[in-house]
Amino acid sequence: MTYELPERWRPRLETRLPRYTSYPTADRFDARIDAAVAAGWLAGLDPRLPVSLYVHLPFCHALCWYCGCHTTVPNRIQRVDRYLDALEAEMALVARTVGRALSVAHLHFGGGTPNYLDGARWRRLMGSIRRHFDLAGTQEIAVELDPRLLDEERVAALAESGVNRASLGVQDFAPEVQRRIHREQPFDLVAGAVERLREAGIRRLSFDLMYGLPGQTSESVARTAAQAASLAPDRLAVFGYAHVPWMKPHQKMIDETALPGTISRYEQACAIGTMLEAAGYEAVGFDHYARPDDRLAIAAREGRLNRNFQGYTDDTAETLIGIGASAISELPAGYVQNNPRLDGWREAVMAGRSACVRGAATDAVDRLRRTAIRRVLSDFALDFGALAREHGRSEDFFDDALAPLQELARDGLVTLVARRLEIPPAARFFARHVAACFDAFRRREERGRHSLAV
Ligand SMILES: C[S@@+](CC[C@H](N)C(=O)[O-])C[C@H]1O[C@@H](n2cnc3c(N)ncnc32)[C@H](O)[C@@H]1O
Ligand code: SF4
Repeated sequence: MTYELPERWRPRLETRLPRYTSYPTADRFDARIDAAVAAGWLAGLDPRLPVSLYVHLPFCHALCWYCGCHTTVPNRIQRVDRYLDALEAEMALVARTVGRALSVAHLHFGGGTPNYLDGARWRRLMGSIRRHFDLAGTQEIAVELDPRLLDEERVAALAESGVNRASLGVQDFAPEVQRRIHREQPFDLVAGAVERLREAGIRRLSFDLMYGLPGQTSESVARTAAQAASLAPDRLAVFGYAHVPWMKPHQKMIDETALPGTISRYEQACAIGTMLEAAGYEAVGFDHYARPDDRLAIAAREGRLNRNFQGYTDDTAETLIGIGASAISELPAGYVQNNPRLDGWREAVMAGRSACVRGAATDAVDRLRRTAIRRVLSDFALDFGALAREHGRSEDFFDDALAPLQELARDGLVTLVARRLEIPPAARFFARHVAACFDAFRRREERGRHSLAV
């Protein structure tokens, strides 16, 4: 793929857009969806259907200055143990509310840093999960890992518990960039972690890379991409740095004057893409790369790619149960988010109550718009007239998207024939601009609060 940046695309790099890991997006959640509503929705689940389970572990060994995740640096290990007590209480509450141990298709641990837990604490957590959920048919147990905390003991505990996919936070290999983001981890450290995981039998590996960080250039990120490819992960996720210091005060440690501008960010995304594609990876969606034989690449080719809170996935379960502080669940009736404050979340679940503090109900129209957005971001093509008809609506159901789509089409970011759109591969980093045309909330309100789309 040859990436380019025609003059007429440049103003659109200033647009701030959500990542569409949910619809309505999380910034539309509100407190009308409270613990009582969440408990009712959970009780209404069909207990025979498999779910995806997400477990959030909000602990890190030190804060990376760019970090946008819900996490903390615990001052005492007892805080972690108390968190594990509360996780068990929350899982018991879910099983009680639903009336049985739900069968889990995909299990995902995120954070924070799940491997902040040592081997003994990891085993304890897996024991709690197995007591309250049925893992007999689980296809994938995936864990987000900080390579700096991957000693043999931890790797052995992960492998023994059935973990079969790991994603490692790599970000950037240049020592100067690492210093500026407070995330120092030499290439050899990451290479050692990769080797230990593979030796233990955890072979499906994914790396997170970032661009748009202070000190990065197109050349430096291309070098990082080449070094990453030399370790042969199956997948890579490439994130543009979201600088939101008004929400994440520690990001004020980042030197704003050294942040690359929008055009440099775009060029960095292109440089990484060019390098990874030359190394044999296929572009998947707008921010992933995968080996052609990886499940995500296969799902993309077969039109089965999907999106949930973890980003792109080949998981097809309709329901996602989120456990832990700040975790979000996607239920048939809507989204519910747990209290992000550790104390508030813990107090609720230890008292046997749902820790939901906000969410959004979804009706049939929201779900149809969500399908349109997911298909656009996953397939890069959509016949929205046909999609509306398949859902019992008239063909012109999405016609409010026509005017903004035509504007994008004039600039060559999308092709539009009647009610069928297609995103040309060269415009892939603008896919969220196309998806936003189907977002009814966005068109009704102001447009300032997200991070940059590219
Ligand atoms: C939970 S962390 C991954 C696991 C582990 N905590 C680590 O950092 O190695 C999730 C990923 O989100 C990405 N990330 C974090 N903050 C970000 C931000 N502000 N903008 C874009 N991506 C970000 C990083 O690539 C990071 O690896
Ligand atoms: S990027 Fe990962 S290790 Fe760094 S602070 Fe965020 S969650 Fe923790």
